[in-house]
Amino acid sequence: MPPWNSPMTATDFDRIRPLRWEAGALYLLDQRALPQRVSELRVADAAAAAAAIRDMVVRGAPAIGLTGAYGLVLAAQTLARAEPTASQWRAGLAAAATRLAAARPTAVHLHWALGQMQAVASAPGEVAPLLAAARAMQAADVAANRQMGARALAVIEQQAAGAGQGDRPLQVLTHCNTGSLATAGYGTALGAIRSLQAAARLAGVFATETRPWLQGARLTAWELAQEGIPVTLVTEGGAAALLAGGQIDWLIVGADRIAANGDTVNKIGTYGLMLAARANDVRTMVVAPLATVDLTLQTGRQIPIEQRAAGELLPAGADPRIGAYNPAFDVTPAALIDWWVTEHGALAAASAEAFRALAP
Ligand code: MRU
Repeated sequence: MPPWNSPMTATDFDRIRPLRWEAGALYLLDQRALPQRVSELRVADAAAAAAAIRDMVVRGAPAIGLTGAYGLVLAAQTLARAEPTASQWRAGLAAAATRLAAARPTAVHLHWALGQMQAVASAPGEVAPLLAAARAMQAADVAANRQMGARALAVIEQQAAGAGQGDRPLQVLTHCNTGSLATAGYGTALGAIRSLQAAARLAGVFATETRPWLQGARLTAWELAQEGIPVTLVTEGGAAALLAGGQIDWLIVGADRIAANGDTVNKIGTYGLMLAARANDVRTMVVAPLATVDLTLQTGRQIPIEQRAAGELLPAGADPRIGAYNPAFDVTPAALIDWWVTEHGALAAASAEAFRALAP
């Protein structure tokens, strides 16, 4: 069995795993090479983990959070070899966390995961508690994704019953990649889609190409095809016409950070899809772990938006006088979102109080 395959059964529609820890190193499925080549990159120190996040060997908010967590384990391994004092240990881990957090600024999950890890760093030189915490975080992420899937399915079934749609299979449009590749496994928005498929409520998935990095064309299409889930690609330019055509029941996306008022930052292009969905009476859903909600920020305008290199956008050999506007994410105002689904519950109206009330 290839290492990127999980031992789960095909009926889970969940066989792909983007990262694993083995013999003191982190192995990442290299998402830059997919779908042409399935290959792994061995990551042996914290600097390499930060580079892998920045260069998008691994991407997707929960997956980069987990890479940050294992990156801190790698930093701890290096520090432990020098038999540090308590203050050297703390300072060394804090410096590694700062470096890892800076790799990508928008997804709050990376900051959250690094905070969780630093909270368990105890006696100087003890790597085992950190490794146990990273492993636990990885397992908890899959469990949370399955809960999100079940909750999203419940919302969709309840809405379908209310609209008199009975139990006919539904067509879903999604954006970017929010699946097993973007998480520890199963996925958030794509986890909801897996749950629809497992419940025989899915007619098919339309996936946007997701320019310029092609997370949809290269990753989501590959991931769904691996699982035998019917998928059709659409350009971002074609999505409004698709939504106007009356065949899409739900637009379901993930999130990198959600402000207290429900404004949601996700892959660039989400905002346009949400506007087109609202204009065409297509229901919209954001699926994300509760850790994606950043209650320190009142609105989406306060969320830092990563700007990526012009080279991702400009064709090879482009005239150097041509500029590139290449933000990785955009902000969807809460008013355009019908549902936020987390592992702890679903909301039809977002507020700091409503998010707080979901926390266990
Ligand atoms: O730039 P990426 O590929 O990391 O962007 C990913 C997204 O925007 C996802 O929708 C988000 O991180 C949620 S992944 C479960």
